[in-house]
Amino acid sequence: MIDIQWDDKFSVGHARIDHEHQVFLDLIRNVSLADDQKAPRERILRLLTEIRKYADFHFYSEENIMIDHAYPDYEAHKREHAMLVSSLDNRIHQYRLEEDDDLGSMVEFLFQWFALHTTGSDKKLVSHIGPEAHSA
Ligand SMILES: [Fe+2]
Repeated sequence: MIDIQWDDKFSVGHARIDHEHQVFLDLIRNVSLADDQKAPRERILRLLTEIRKYADFHFYSEENIMIDHAYPDYEAHKREHAMLVSSLDNRIHQYRLEEDDDLGSMVEFLFQWFALHTTGSDKKLVSHIGPEAHSA
């Protein structure tokens, strides 16, 4: 099982976004720990649903920041969010149907996406809006 830990390289330099990313990573870590502890399916499903709901909130929140700053890459960035949500929905659906018990691959998928997206698209966003920018 991969080690899900916050690392400075994930920091985008925007307090609000970094905070939400830390929570997001924590939720991925919870699934990984629950898997290690052989937690019951119902618990795992609740944790996966928690990630899914948080992703919705966090992406919407980031998209509002982009709108506020008339961010030129808004559409492309929003598409990346939508693709993650749709892949995650599929994976949770498969898990619910008990067709896919490979939580290791689920955790790895989420962590890889998180690492790539924060260090790529989210850093690019903050370099445009500035480190001290706020959405409100
Ligand atoms: Fe993003």
